[in-house]
Amino acid sequence: MAKQFDVVVIGAGPGGYIAAIRAAQLGMSVACIDAWSTSDGKPAPGGACTNVGCIPSKALLQSSEYYEQVNEHFEDHGIEVKDVKLKLNKLLGRKDSVVKENNEGILYLLKKNKVTFFHGMGSFVAHVDGGWSIKVAGKKDEDLVSKHVIIATGSSPRELPGLPFDEEQVLSNDGALRIPSVPKKLGVIGAGVIGLELGSVWRRLGSEVTVLEAMPDFLAAVDQQVAKEAQKQLAKQGLDIQTGVKIGEIKATSKSVTVPYTDAKGEEQTLTFDKLIVSIGRVPNVEGLGVDTVGLKRDERGFIVVDDECKTNLPNVWAVGDVVRGPMLAHKAEEEGVAVAERIAGQHGHVNFGTIPWVIYTSPEIAWVGKNEQQLKTEGRAYKAGSFPFMANGRARALGNTTGFVKVLADAKTDEVLGVHIIGPQASELIAEAVTIMEFRGAAEDIARICHAHPTLSESLKEAALAVDKRSLNF
Ligand code: FAD
Ligand code: NAI
Repeated sequence: MAKQFDVVVIGAGPGGYIAAIRAAQLGMSVACIDAWSTSDGKPAPGGACTNVGCIPSKALLQSSEYYEQVNEHFEDHGIEVKDVKLKLNKLLGRKDSVVKENNEGILYLLKKNKVTFFHGMGSFVAHVDGGWSIKVAGKKDEDLVSKHVIIATGSSPRELPGLPFDEEQVLSNDGALRIPSVPKKLGVIGAGVIGLELGSVWRRLGSEVTVLEAMPDFLAAVDQQVAKEAQKQLAKQGLDIQTGVKIGEIKATSKSVTVPYTDAKGEEQTLTFDKLIVSIGRVPNVEGLGVDTVGLKRDERGFIVVDDECKTNLPNVWAVGDVVRGPMLAHKAEEEGVAVAERIAGQHGHVNFGTIPWVIYTSPEIAWVGKNEQQLKTEGRAYKAGSFPFMANGRARALGNTTGFVKVLADAKTDEVLGVHIIGPQASELIAEAVTIMEFRGAAEDIARICHAHPTLSESLKEAALAVDKRSLNF
């Protein structure tokens, strides 16, 4: 006998588990299916984000940052530390504990909200009386029927043709988060978000890191003034970033990986690495979901086709997160998950794609929301820009971290904030204020008139907003 639900969510990443919780809060009977397992076969909900993405990468970023601080910067504060040792096993073990706490936290939240959790692969069987028949293939197989289905199956790392991930020598984000000893020479293909974040982690821990990027411009999607500053700072730290390269046929043995490539000048080069991270984007997860059985429409790149409300071509079948168009970000997946649950409940769920913040957790951090200067120029929109360097901020000087700046872009006529771009300390936290202002369609003057505590890094946003009107007070 099939178990009946109002909503079945397939996938318990940030898109799926949040959609399940919201649907349950709204009074629906909800099941959530997820296939991810711990090494000993237990459920590990949280998706790529919790298991091999946001959470473990930030745990490693923090540990490696501390290591670099002790080695390079404590002396500046008059603190002498002798015999600093890296215990990589412990560092990786701590990261695993952080992941486990998150897995357990999600299981607790699902239970607290009365969401029935199934551990296994979910797939469509057919459209039946009462909704969709869904099969769960796990330790115990289950048959479910649900009026609504939310697909939140996420994404997986894209391989280079002919170079499968073995997670020993050729690493995806998964293997790159658990290299058992610091590689002497580490190669990274793709200077995107993962390449820069994880490349930075291993550089701080002692690897010599080379990043090879196909595009001629570094971080082409980022405001180019910010991207230039980032490239300068990362190079200063010792990250060798080469743009405009064409990768040849890579050869991997059990000990090393050889990467032939043509550099930006057209010259043939070859580099040999101990390990290679391939971070060239991600592909949607639809394998084993039974999409063809029920005729679920996908685009030419494999993403499930949805409209602005996350509706697929099938009745009462919705899709959210990495498996559909739009930025591959945990908070975007969550927002879509909440909006879909609310739409199912007859409410007016809404996601504002214009105010989704981006953060790249390098050091310095990079964060932005809204449009950048190159986009505004292409659109021919008249705008004013105001910038403020952290060098002129008292708190940044006290921290000993004065790299970077804040830039506010505002409409030339109305003063509405169109974009905010930050490179510097705590950019990931500072961007939230800019998101709030933009969500309320506030003006640069609004930020400038708000009282900011002193001394804080956030005063830099106020000063950049003042600079839009050429009246910065501290610069
Ligand atoms: P996922 O998190 O991928 O979850 C999908 C889940 O569905 C998985 O558990 C999967 O096993 C399960 N599943 C798939 N198919 C089935 C099936 N048929 N049946 C049952 N279960 C199934 N984003 C940020 O916003 N901030 C960050 O700092 C950040 N850092 C990242 C770092 C790395 C190294 C990586 C790889 C990604 C990072 N991301 C970050 C991106 C973020 O992880 C994704 O955008 C987010 O996880 C997408 O959520 P999702 O719910 O769509 O899918
Ligand atoms: P990405 O799209 O950020 O970067 C991939 C890079 O690889 C691009 O610069 C691309 O030009 C380059 N590339 C592609 N093919 C190549 C080739 N053959 N040779 C050399 N370079 C090549 O993808 P990435 O880093 O894999 O991350 C995937 C997604 O995960 C991100 O887009 C982001 O949405 C998400 N993510 C978010 C994080 C955050 O929010 N802080 C952190 C990590 C990942």
